This record gives sequence, structure tokens and C-alpha cells, in this order.
Amino acid sequence: MNSPAKKSDARGADQRAAPVHQRAPDIDAVKRATITAVTSGKGGVGKTFVSANLAAALTLRGERVLVLDADLGLANLDVVLNLTPKITLHDVFTGKADLDDAVLAAPGGFSVVLAGSGMVEYSRLTPDVRNQLLATVQTLAPRFDRILLDTGAGISDVVLFAVSLADEVLIVTTPEPTSLTDAYATIKVLGSQQQRRNIRLVVNQVTRVGDGKLIRGQLQQVVDKFVTPHLFDPITPLKLEFLGDVPSDPAVREAVLRRQLLLEVMPGTAAAVAICGVADKLMG
Ligand SMILES: Nc1ncnc2c1ncn2[C@@H]1O[C@H](COP(=O)(O)OP(=O)(O)O)[C@@H](O)[C@H]1O
Ligand SMILES: [Mg+2]
Repeated sequence: MNSPAKKSDARGADQRAAPVHQRAPDIDAVKRATITAVTSGKGGVGKTFVSANLAAALTLRGERVLVLDADLGLANLDVVLNLTPKITLHDVFTGKADLDDAVLAAPGGFSVVLAGSGMVEYSRLTPDVRNQLLATVQTLAPRFDRILLDTGAGISDVVLFAVSLADEVLIVTTPEPTSLTDAYATIKVLGSQQQRRNIRLVVNQVTRVGDGKLIRGQLQQVVDKFVTPHLFDPITPLKLEFLGDVPSDPAVREAVLRRQLLLEVMPGTAAAVAICGVADKLMG
């Protein structure tokens, strides 16, 4: 006799025989890094500090991480990490070197590709810059679990294009009104131009723990009021996801002055611990 239980067993077996939801082996074979853009409205808010130390924290948690210095005009990841690169993205873009040779080991156990600073030719998004940047990210993506794009600030074409290459966006802001206004402008553009519906937020240089959460709430209110859902997706509202606040900590400036990675040389400091919290949230 066929009991109902047996019937459902049989259905289960049928489903196992035809696993329509399973990914084809060739799709799994091209598993690639999650690309996270670290960006901001205003400059000097701590994108490079967050990128480098977040990379170290994610590495400690078992991810294979690469930080790409995507702040092409004003790159300074090399300064923070005390690296003097022989080969930069500029050499790769101009065909003088292979991308493989531009991938360097950074303190903290992650990899970096540095940009080299002061190249005005990268202040505009030419078709060449566009293609080169895209090709660079596409080539590197299968080799890592995570690529952090340390971008420039603002809403220039170059910055927006770099961010467009990312699966997810992390905006760094400080509690300063100017930084918040610029963060809002960036969020608005990313919502409308790139149809972003989830943007992550790190509030850096807070004076009191908890300020970050309040700030996220305020920014979310403004977004809810003024960022109309996109034409192609009128239902899903844009959500700001709070990843944590990082206190203003003299240890950060000290580490930068000594050109050392905070997480490596002062892992117990308040800012370093906060970055680890951000890493946990990002992975979770
Ligand atoms: N949490 C912090 N506490 C204290 N100083 C900080 C903190 N974050 C950043 N800074 C200071 O701000 C400077 C600029 O940071 P940086 O990461 O280079 O900014 P960006 O990449 O956004 O231009 C750093 O050199 C450091 O001195
Ligand atoms: Mg920077």
C-alpha cells in the first residue's frame, strides 16, 4: 500500500534525480572573489586605513584577500603599507609589465596591487582606463576570495566606474556634517545609476561608540525620504546596512606615521578591535 509518507519519499527521490537548483559544474569552476568597493563621498575619511586593516582582519579569518589601489590619481596604499613597488598598475596599463608581476605581498598576509601616485591621466575615465581596470579585476577575481577596491572619493566617472565593478559597496564616512552630506550624495548616485539596493556603512573616527548607529539611522531617514526607488525596481527600497563604527584613535595616526599596519603592530587598540568587528559582519 502506498502511504502518503511513501509518496513524498518518492517525490524526494525524483527531485534528487533531477536537481534543477544545482549549479552546473562549470559555473562552480569559475568561482571568483567577492568584490567589495570601499568608497566615500569626502576624501581623507579613512578608506585606505579601513581597506588595509580590513584586508588583514579578513586574512586572519581565512580569506584570500587582495587590495587593489583603485584611487588611480591619488594612490597612497603604498605609503600606509610601507611598500615601494617596482611595478604598479600604471606599468600594467601601459603594457610595460604583466599584471602578475604587479601583485605584491603586503604585511598582514594579503596581496596588493598598487597604483603609483600623481598620474593625471587617470583623473578622466577614458575607454582605455575603463578597459584596463575591468580586465585587471576580471583577471584577478578567480584567484582570491575577496578583492577590496580602495577607490577615490566622490562621484567622478573614474570612481563610479571602479565601484560599478564591485558586487557590494562599503561607504566610509566620519560623523562630520560635510562627510555625511557627501556620503549621502554618493549613496544617492549609486542608488540611481547603479541600482544599488544595499549599501554598507562604516562610520570612522567616532568619538563615542554608538554614534555610528545613530548616524546610519539619520542617513537612512534622508534616503527613505529623498531617494525614490528606481524606475526598474520601484518596490525595493535602498537599505543602508551598518557594519560598525571605528573610534577616533591616536594609534591610527601613530601607525600611519610609522608606516605600519595597525592590526599587525597594535591589534589590541580600540580601532583595530573595531575593524575586526567590521570584518566579522562583512563575512557573516
Ligand atoms: N579611526 C581613526 N582614528 C584616527 N585617525 C584616523 C582614523 N582613520 C583615519 N585616520 C587618519 O586619517 C588619515 C586619512 O586616512 P586615509 O585612510 O588615508 O583616508 P582616505 O583613504 O579616505 O583618503 C589617516 O592617515 C589617519 O591619520
Ligand atoms: Mg585613500
